[in-house]
Amino acid sequence: MNMVDLIAKKRDGGSYTREELAYIVRGYTNGGIPDYQMSAWAMAVYFQGMTPEETAQLTMEMARSGEQLDLSPIPGCKVDKHSTGGVGDKTTLVVAPLVAAAGLPVAKMSGRGLGFSGGTIDKLESFPGLQVERSREQFIQQVRDVGVAIISQTGNLTPADKKLYALRDVTATVEALPLIASSIMSKKIAAGADAIVLDVKVGRGAFMKTREQARALAEAMVQIGHSVGRRTVAVLSDMNQPLGYAVGNALEVKEAIAVLAGQGPRDVEELALTLGAQMLLLAEKETDEDAARERLRSLLKNGEALAKLAALVQAQGGDPAFVHEPDRLPRAAITLQVHAPRAGFLAEIDAEKIGQAAVLLGAGRKIKDAPVDLAVGIVLQRKTGEAVEKGDVLAEIHANEAEKAEQALALVTSALRIADHAPAAQPLVLDVVSVAKGEHDCDAAPACG
Ligand code: URA
Repeated sequence: MNMVDLIAKKRDGGSYTREELAYIVRGYTNGGIPDYQMSAWAMAVYFQGMTPEETAQLTMEMARSGEQLDLSPIPGCKVDKHSTGGVGDKTTLVVAPLVAAAGLPVAKMSGRGLGFSGGTIDKLESFPGLQVERSREQFIQQVRDVGVAIISQTGNLTPADKKLYALRDVTATVEALPLIASSIMSKKIAAGADAIVLDVKVGRGAFMKTREQARALAEAMVQIGHSVGRRTVAVLSDMNQPLGYAVGNALEVKEAIAVLAGQGPRDVEELALTLGAQMLLLAEKETDEDAARERLRSLLKNGEALAKLAALVQAQGGDPAFVHEPDRLPRAAITLQVHAPRAGFLAEIDAEKIGQAAVLLGAGRKIKDAPVDLAVGIVLQRKTGEAVEKGDVLAEIHANEAEKAEQALALVTSALRIADHAPAAQPLVLDVVSVAKGEHDCDAAPACG
């Protein structure tokens, strides 16, 4: 086999065998295939696409390119949850303890934020002393003892994806759908998931800007999951306006705590119940979606979900008192307010601009591994569709530097549009994709665990 012939094959619309895909992934991972050939290959895939079979085989080759986590010492079905990234998306902080309180083991590896979308690991570090780096043994033991652990990626998981994603980033090939789908799914599979619930965000503050793109990605990932023996469901959710009100690490943790206490914003709760219910269904903890939602709702009401978060914080070296006294979490020195310039209806809150304002304040990073300021961010006071009077406070800027506060104020102001009429209401959950394309028999889904 040689890489020049394989590039030409895809360029001319051909399909690869399993052996050919293994050759490409292994060759690139071990340095035998240089970046310039892999770039040409990625561009050929961008234009020609891949069959579902090729995409599934590529995924498994990438999952096998490094270490794979064996979660079998944890009894039960391990359902992972993944978000394609959004602004104000604190759902993992709610869903993980919530489904754990319902008896589902949650062994979750999460990432840090990059660009305008935040990361669960940064948010969790708002709890002073909380450790996100744990050994595999500690990770598994914590899930066995407490029912839930959220840590940053350990070991050498999916090195092929790390290398290929970095290359795609600088060769205008990130958008190749089979490469996105295999990148995401390979990481979930290597992290030991038996089943996967995907939150595919759609809109201004998301990677996928249109519903069509998001649906195509969701279908590709569900198809991969089914063909490699992992039950997979994708929820399409709106990301035109930020999720909830808070954007920024400690601010989002406070909001997640409020949701776990049954007093959070409706949209965050709704999405958490939707994703959590899908997780319970995949694990066969419930057979009916309404019953699953009801069970989760009762765990928000009776304090068990919040207690589970406190147990997680304690098990990872943090002080659980912060869960019950969230005002002790990091706070910024400066608060500025954005006022409505006129009366009307809040017609738009541009999630991408709000995310950029959060990065500008220091809540997110432009460069991988740069430090973040846990205290800063934006707290919206209103959601799209609400009536406002002139002078009403629409948002608060939480900053630690006066100059950045002013810059963020200008950006947030430009993200808010007031109109004379209320915009048509947009649903938060747009669709649930649970059956792979061309497959109409739910019983064909692989078993969990
Ligand atoms: N997120 C990923 O993990 N991989 C991609 O290719 C795109 C988004």
